[in-house]
Amino acid sequence: MSLSGPPIAAIANETMVQLTLPKNSKITGKGRVYKAARAKEGGAKIRRFKVYRYDPDSDENPRVDIYEVDVSDVSMVLDALIKIKNETDSTLAFRRSCREGVCGSCAMNINGSNTLACTKAMDDCGSGDVAIYPLPHMPVVKDLVTDLSKFYEQHAYIEPFLQAKTAEPEKEWRQSREDREKLDGLYECILCACCSTSCPSYWWNGDKDDPDHEYLGPAALLQAYRWLVDSRDQLTNERLDRLEDEFKLYRCHTIMNCAQVCPKGLNPARAIAEIKRMMVNRPASGQTRQASE
Ligand code: SF4
Ligand code: SF4
Ligand code: FES
Repeated sequence: MSLSGPPIAAIANETMVQLTLPKNSKITGKGRVYKAARAKEGGAKIRRFKVYRYDPDSDENPRVDIYEVDVSDVSMVLDALIKIKNETDSTLAFRRSCREGVCGSCAMNINGSNTLACTKAMDDCGSGDVAIYPLPHMPVVKDLVTDLSKFYEQHAYIEPFLQAKTAEPEKEWRQSREDREKLDGLYECILCACCSTSCPSYWWNGDKDDPDHEYLGPAALLQAYRWLVDSRDQLTNERLDRLEDEFKLYRCHTIMNCAQVCPKGLNPARAIAEIKRMMVNRPASGQTRQASE
């Protein structure tokens, strides 16, 4: 088995396959093969999908099943998974909701790269087998469904909401056009976790027993920056204080996997670099910005 496709493709080999496997589940089970029904009419276009299967509550070891699917009426990878579930194997588990690249539910690893199954076109999957795994280095709940509890805890840690020290205005909290534009490239994040789970530093440092010695990862840090640059937020220094230790921010080593995989085209690495710059340039004493009128 091999993985292909950026960004992991650059270093894809058997070792990397092992590295990118989910946390609690190396593949040792024997996979099953589901053959496509013989096409009654011409025009069938058969593709093979190698799909990771694991149920931690069962006695069975993790395995990779192979599904042959007629993709002649399938445009996106998520459509193929839905077709497998509806027509071949109803036990296959995966998350999805919006089917529009908006909710972030269908994030998974397809042909070696984290992405959204609903926006990954079959035409972009090459001509060989399509390998589908859960997001790397996350505990598996079942098959392609990972446990994102820690990821959400880290998001909550950065306090992703507007905070003020002065009394809130009676009507709207106005922002200049220029200040609003500072949020572009940040507010679009859908918290799919593609970036954090592609980040080697997050693999090694993102989930420790001691939360004070954890790297928050690119998604939480991009969100942190989104509130740090919001002209209406008045807790800038306090927010920086919460990020200032050896682990939460400074475990980013600018490997850039995060920016390569983000399905929304965002650049968490740049946001992280901006936070580091703010750390260096911040006032010595606890000055905070006033909300702009
Ligand atoms: S920055 Fe991109 S990859 Fe990361 S969680 Fe947000 S949308 Fe997903
Ligand atoms: S740039 Fe930083 S956050 Fe992005 S993948 Fe690399 S180490 Fe992780
Ligand atoms: S189903 Fe919502 S992003 Fe794919």
